[in-house]
Amino acid sequence: MRLLVTGGAGFIGANFVQQTVTERPEVTVTVLDALTYAGNRSSLDPVADRIDFVHGDIADLDLVDELVSGVDAVVHFAAESHNDNSLTEPWPFVQTNIVGTYSLLQAVRRHEVRYHHVSTDEVYGDLAAGDPAFTERTPYNPSSPYSATKASGDMLVRAWVRSFGIRATLSNCSNNYGPYQHVEKFIPRQITNLIDGVRPRLYGGGQQIRDWIHVDDHNRAVWDVLERGRIGQTYLIGADGELGNRTVVELLLAEFGRAPDDFDFVTDRAGHDQRYAIDASTLRDELGWRPRYADFRTGLAATVAWYRANESWWRPVKAATERAYAEAGERTI
Ligand code: NAD
Ligand code: DAU
Repeated sequence: MRLLVTGGAGFIGANFVQQTVTERPEVTVTVLDALTYAGNRSSLDPVADRIDFVHGDIADLDLVDELVSGVDAVVHFAAESHNDNSLTEPWPFVQTNIVGTYSLLQAVRRHEVRYHHVSTDEVYGDLAAGDPAFTERTPYNPSSPYSATKASGDMLVRAWVRSFGIRATLSNCSNNYGPYQHVEKFIPRQITNLIDGVRPRLYGGGQQIRDWIHVDDHNRAVWDVLERGRIGQTYLIGADGELGNRTVVELLLAEFGRAPDDFDFVTDRAGHDQRYAIDASTLRDELGWRPRYADFRTGLAATVAWYRANESWWRPVKAATERAYAEAGERTI
């Protein structure tokens, strides 16, 4: 199989490419990535001599058309992915997550290429304590510019399936953790703060809940859907990993031998979603998927070890990331 992976220099995409090249040597991988601030070519170093890398934009219609014409399938990870950035500068989110998706859809339509669309549980909005978890039938209700543009991209995919008969599947996953995640995101930010002796920073009261899944479990599910998913179907991906943000910080503090209250509360995120939770029954029952990282603590310890061992990967962007948070108005409360 010849596979085009968009966003393969980002967090989930790079893990997907590494997993694919290692476990499926019969697959030929081409990565298309614009190398935005979130892309890091070195995340592909372990497999660099076994893939083709194209530096380019998914919204470039001619480039995308040419690349798609030479493959059997596309897995689309590329996105602007960070909620906080979408609150300070929404335009790149509209351009990449909506226009970029349009560009891919037109190309897979023209060349009749199989397409898998990677999306997020945030398209469903948030849940209150006690609400049942999201299912494939939950109505879309996005809160942030990021999640609204991801919801828009999903809608385009559904329309292209129905109107043009493209062979597409979608997956909407919960919060990923693991190696190669940018230090702007919650878990790597706190790990790298702790490595630097800085106190973790919790938004608002730290009461929000996220449903954590290891990135390798997400990517195995993507392969299951790509190979055996029903065309036109959405699959929710999650590993029953609900935890409060404060609990995650306490677990990290324990990993570093620090007291459980050794953190700061900082300015809350505008419009902050309270809780996400995934019911992955369709994926489990229909495709037999099971997470391998059933224990979050073990996965978290491995992730801490990875950031300790790979300081050269994250150090170059750490100071600028913290400066951006300060410039966006983050203050201790
Ligand atoms: P990321 O920000 O780490 O990586 C995004 C990658 O896309 C980067 O390499 C970047 O250079 C590239 N990119 C951005 N704009 C581009 C463009 N116009 N053309 C080509 N490449 C471009 O993101 P991530 O966390 O790896 O997320 C990957 C996908 O998974 C996204 O679609 C995201 O919505 C989805 N997702 C993420 C999570 C999560 O917890 N991180 C959970 C569910 C779904
Ligand atoms: O649910 C899937 C989504 O998960 C993906 O679609 C997004 O691409 C991904 O970024 C993630 O979105 P979140 O907004 O949930 O992730 P983030 O890592 O930004 O924040 C996780 C939680 O931690 C959230 O409640 C905000 C909080 N937080 C975040 C940071 C960076 C803090 O309390 N302190 C922080 O410093």
